[in-house]
Amino acid sequence: MSRTVYVNGDFLPEENAKISVFDRGFLFADGVYEVTTVIGGKLLDFDGHMARLKRSLGELDMNQPAEIDTLLEIHKRLIEENSLVNGLIYLQVTRGAADRDFAFPPEDTPMSVVLFTQTSDPTKSKLSETGARVIVVPDNRWARRDIKTVQLLYPSLAKMAAKKAGADDAWMEEDGYITEGSSNNAWIVTEDGTLVTRDLSHSILHGITRKAVLKCAELLQMKVEERPFTKEEAANAREAFITSASSFVTPVIEIDGNSIGEGKPGPTAGKLREIYMEEALKTAV
Ligand code: PDD
Repeated sequence: MSRTVYVNGDFLPEENAKISVFDRGFLFADGVYEVTTVIGGKLLDFDGHMARLKRSLGELDMNQPAEIDTLLEIHKRLIEENSLVNGLIYLQVTRGAADRDFAFPPEDTPMSVVLFTQTSDPTKSKLSETGARVIVVPDNRWARRDIKTVQLLYPSLAKMAAKKAGADDAWMEEDGYITEGSSNNAWIVTEDGTLVTRDLSHSILHGITRKAVLKCAELLQMKVEERPFTKEEAANAREAFITSASSFVTPVIEIDGNSIGEGKPGPTAGKLREIYMEEALKTAV
């Protein structure tokens, strides 16, 4: 069945939606995006995603395309028009369409704003039950990974390398330390039960789920260290897991062929997944 999507002010059947071939998102990956999960028709961590959108736009000298309230209305209408119960809303903002030029077009060039829905059910993901196997690949992305841009070719190549190796995902490594997963933040649990995840910098995306899970860890009075860790530390950890809007908290049971802990989903990841879902639903809009 055809979805209703949003393009530059209009709600349209997906087959009628059009974006210019001169759009800078298409030609230069000159755009940013957000993915917000929908559970039971409600948006999880909406404020967090919109705050990061604002930050990504600001870092690239782009204006906010609309007030947050307007963006919320658009999200809500898409949920309604598509009868979306569980899934996600993808939002993309680009610098708009202009003659191909490395220099930015004039500031008054209208930005392109696209939103669409996708159906999925992260509450019932297979990997959350089986645990994910990851391989480690070099982090060959650009140096501003804190900006959520649409230039996702390298993470896509990393994901394909994982699939070819019979794994589920790739963790990326730079200067001997894990940065993050292809589309998620990476965590380990040390032998003494401490949660470790890389500290915020330009090297990683500042995950909204990462932030929410840190709050859950505080609620559970868990010890947390925000610092880089190596692949060896991960292989010797008691547990490992990933966080993202679309995977919540998902256990990682193997890294480069080495079992992590007992080689099966561990209790810490399980508990954090449960608490994260509970807490996220409390503030869902
Ligand atoms: N990916 N790191 C990277 C590189 C990501 O692409 C993502 C999100 C995350 C987790 O961020 P958050 O918790 O805010 O979802 C970390 C989204 C889900 C995607 O591209 O589909």
